[in-house]
Amino acid sequence: MGTRARTVTPQAVEPLAKRKAWKALQVHHEKIRPLHLRELFAKDPKRGERMTAEAAGLLLDYSKNRITDETIRLLIQLSEESALKAQIEAMFRGDKINFTENRAVLHVALRAPKGASMLVDGENVVPQVHAVLDKMTEFSDRVRSGQWRGHTGKRIRNVINIGIGGSDLGPVMAYEALRHYSDRTMNFRFVSNVDGTDFAEAVRDLDAAETLFIISSKTFTTLETMTNAHSARDWSLAGLGGDEKSVAKHFVAVSTNAQEVAKFGIDTAQMFGFWDWVGGRYSMDSAIGLSTMVAVGPENFQALLAGFHQMDEHFRTAPLDQNLPVLLGLFSIWYNDFFGAQTVAMLPYEQYLKRFPAYLQQLTMESNGKHVTISGSETSYATGPVYWGEPGTNGQHSFYQLIHQGTRLIPCDFIAFAQPLNPLGRHHDMLLANVFAQTEALAFGKTPEQVKAEGTPDWLVPHRVFEGNRPSNTILADRLTPEALGKLVALYEHSVFTQGAIWQINSFDQWGVELGKVLAQRIIPELESKAEPTLRHDSSTNNLIRRYRRRRTS
Ligand code: F6P
Repeated sequence: MGTRARTVTPQAVEPLAKRKAWKALQVHHEKIRPLHLRELFAKDPKRGERMTAEAAGLLLDYSKNRITDETIRLLIQLSEESALKAQIEAMFRGDKINFTENRAVLHVALRAPKGASMLVDGENVVPQVHAVLDKMTEFSDRVRSGQWRGHTGKRIRNVINIGIGGSDLGPVMAYEALRHYSDRTMNFRFVSNVDGTDFAEAVRDLDAAETLFIISSKTFTTLETMTNAHSARDWSLAGLGGDEKSVAKHFVAVSTNAQEVAKFGIDTAQMFGFWDWVGGRYSMDSAIGLSTMVAVGPENFQALLAGFHQMDEHFRTAPLDQNLPVLLGLFSIWYNDFFGAQTVAMLPYEQYLKRFPAYLQQLTMESNGKHVTISGSETSYATGPVYWGEPGTNGQHSFYQLIHQGTRLIPCDFIAFAQPLNPLGRHHDMLLANVFAQTEALAFGKTPEQVKAEGTPDWLVPHRVFEGNRPSNTILADRLTPEALGKLVALYEHSVFTQGAIWQINSFDQWGVELGKVLAQRIIPELESKAEPTLRHDSSTNNLIRRYRRRRTS
């Protein structure tokens, strides 16, 4: 494994903590820690204009971070000593950087323009990508125009995507984000949880004759998805008089596994393929985005892909110190590894991005939740932080208290758009005023002197002081368009890459989800068996299983 790792990242063999820049950053952090953003801004009146970077219409204001020019210089040096550029090239070249699964990582090929060339095992995969896109386009047009009819001849009004993880979070996030552009005569729903409530609530008011299911699963073996898919099949057949022929009109599949799709009973002609070089959490712009395309139409889907591609090109070619994903990734490392911050708050001030934090949780935490380096040793430093968040302004009235006055350092990413999609009186100015106010309050706070000057009694002063010096990034774009969404998602994909590359971990496998899956498969028959099973778990698990068996309804 050591040899394989070395062929992937030739210069990345020196352990991270031994690199010059890492050590220099440790020393540098001691100097920066006591500095307040108030001082940094006071010393440099142009800081807010200077510490910004712009790419593809996205502005990143990083001036409210606890950094100086020297911090940037050292972080860039760290990325150079980590051979970041070489690692980026290796990904774009189709090298098998997901070496624990012997796979290339080429989600960037999903948005490469027709005519481009990207190789996996010497084969240009871009034509395959466009062949699937063409098939998706044809299908979407037929459903959207009403040409595709259900078994009884009725038009399809409801589309339900069944999938989980990357086969759900991308589609549902993108649908919510782009709802403004969606066909409002149709309903789009998303079923992921094996909890029967998810499926029951999704179909309770629907007519099977008007309902199309998209079964989305890379492997087509995932327990939750297959269970929901079978329930969907039963529900659909029950609503359509039990005629097996109806399945062809009401079910399509998105998968890499044609054999399992056929086994389930979906004709592989109605399967939209993708490839093992697309990770589940990087797949929303593959055929996994079929529900998105049906919702917003092929043109908007193309615009989404174009947005992704612009950010890919920026990531690949921009100098590191002006590279948005690189900068975001480096700041995350700065707080995670030097300030000991454990989380990052994602705060989109855009209601349509309400599922964006949930989407980013899988992207970031399934990718960088690793404690073993590519050479198989344990990391001596912290890796992936916890990502969490809610749209603003809602979060302000719930958890922001802790961000402002709690004992933890929580770096925040604020995301906002200059133009509203639903202009309504003063709403948008108020929304944006809150973005700017929050980042200002977090950075500069309110001193005891200021609080006293307001006439606050002495005993109340400490409670009303805002320490400030709480860092944030602000990402500002003009308008939430399909293109802007593509740029935003690619920005975070590549920020995740940057972090993983520097931490020397494999951001593209997810072995940590396996054990629970295997144990659940073992427990299912123990719950279902009529006879009392012989349990061989620990005493807690045995006890819980027994109690469940005694207390369940049937
Ligand atoms: O359990 C984790 C995972 O493998 C994710 O990585 C993936 O996105 C999800 O399950 C769903 O997998 P599939 O698309 O194969 O059903």
